Amino acid sequence: MANSNSVDQYRTTFVSYLEGKTKGKEPKNLYEPINYILGLGGKRLRPVLTLMTTDLFGGNPSDALDAALAIEVFHNFSLVHDDIMDDAPLRRGKTTVHEKWDVNTGILSGDAMLINSYQFLESYPSDVFKKLTALFSKTAIEVCEGQQYDVDFESRDDVTIPEYLKMIEYKTAVLVATAMKMGAIVAKASEDDTEAIYEFGKNLGIAFQLQDDYLDAFGDPKTFGKQVGGDIIENKKTFLYLKSLELAGQGKKEGLLHLYSIKPEDPEAKVTTVKSIFKESGAVEEAKTEISTYTQKAFDALSAINMPEQNKLMLKQFGENLMGRTV
Ligand code: IPE
Ligand code: IPE
Ligand code: MG
Ligand code: MG
Ligand code: MG
Repeated sequence: MANSNSVDQYRTTFVSYLEGKTKGKEPKNLYEPINYILGLGGKRLRPVLTLMTTDLFGGNPSDALDAALAIEVFHNFSLVHDDIMDDAPLRRGKTTVHEKWDVNTGILSGDAMLINSYQFLESYPSDVFKKLTALFSKTAIEVCEGQQYDVDFESRDDVTIPEYLKMIEYKTAVLVATAMKMGAIVAKASEDDTEAIYEFGKNLGIAFQLQDDYLDAFGDPKTFGKQVGGDIIENKKTFLYLKSLELAGQGKKEGLLHLYSIKPEDPEAKVTTVKSIFKESGAVEEAKTEISTYTQKAFDALSAINMPEQNKLMLKQFGENLMGRTV
C-alpha cells in the first residue's frame, strides 16, 4: 500500500534501476549523450506515476519498472529532439545535447533512445506486451503530431485556445496519461479503471503543460533549469499569449502581434515587454485558473475508479503538489 513517503521511494527505486541499464556501451559518441541526458535527472514524474499506479491498483511496483523505464527513456528522447527544434540552450540547468555535442549527435542519440524505449517492453509476457506496445505506439505518434502543431503554430497568427489545448494534450498530456495507464495494465486493473486513470493523467498533463508555459515566462532562472523566456523568443503560441490577445486593449494587442512576428537578435526587450503584457492583461490570472480547472477535471475522473479512498487521496496530493511546482 502506498503512503506519503512513497513518491520518494518510487523515484529512488526507479533511478537505481535506470543506472544499472546505461553503463559503458560503444560507440561512445552515441551513448555518452544518452547517459548525459538520462543522468541529468529531472523530476522523474512519469516513471513515478507508472510505479505509483501499479501500486495503487494492488500490483507489484517492481513489475512496472520496465514500463516506467520505457516511458522515461522515450520522454528523454523527445526532449533531446525538442531542444533541437526549439533551439534551446539549457535543459535541467545544463547545456543541451545538441549544444554540447552537435545536432547530428542529438538526432541519432535521440533515435537510439526511442528504439531502446521499446526494447524495455520486451520483458513482459506476450499479452501484456501487446497491450503496452499498442498504447505506446499510439501515444508516440500523438506526441509527434503535437510537436508538429507546436512548430506550425510558431508561424501562424490565428491560433485559437481550443487548438492550443489540443496541441498540449498531444505533445505532453497523452504521455503522462500513458505512464499511468501502463501502470494500470501491469497491475491488471479492469478496463474501466484503466480508462479512468488515463483520463486522470491526461487532465493532469494538460494542467502540467499550462504550468510549464507559465514557468517558461515567469519561472526563476536559478531553479527552472531552462532558458526563461524561451517560448517568447521562439514565438510559441501559449495560453498566456492567446489569452493576452483576447484581453489586451487594441494597442497592446497590435504590439503583441508584431513582437510575435519577429525574432530580434537581442531578445531581452521583447521578453520584458511581452511579460508585462501577459501580466497586465490578466492572462496570468486566467492561466492560473485554467491550471486549477484541469487539475480539478483530473480529480473528477477519480470518482469512477474502483480503488480505496486512501489511494485516491494520494493521487490528489500528487496533483496538488504538481500545481504548485517551480521546476
Ligand atoms: C519537460 O518535462 C517537457 C514538458 C512536457 C513540459 P518535465 O518537466 O517532466 O521534464 P523533466 O524530466 O522533469 O526534466
Ligand atoms: C515539450 O514541450 C513537449 C515534448 C518534448 C514532447 P516544450 O517544448 O514546452 O518542453 P520544454 O519547455 O522544452 O521542456
Ligand atoms: Mg522545448
Ligand atoms: Mg517544444
Ligand atoms: Mg516549455
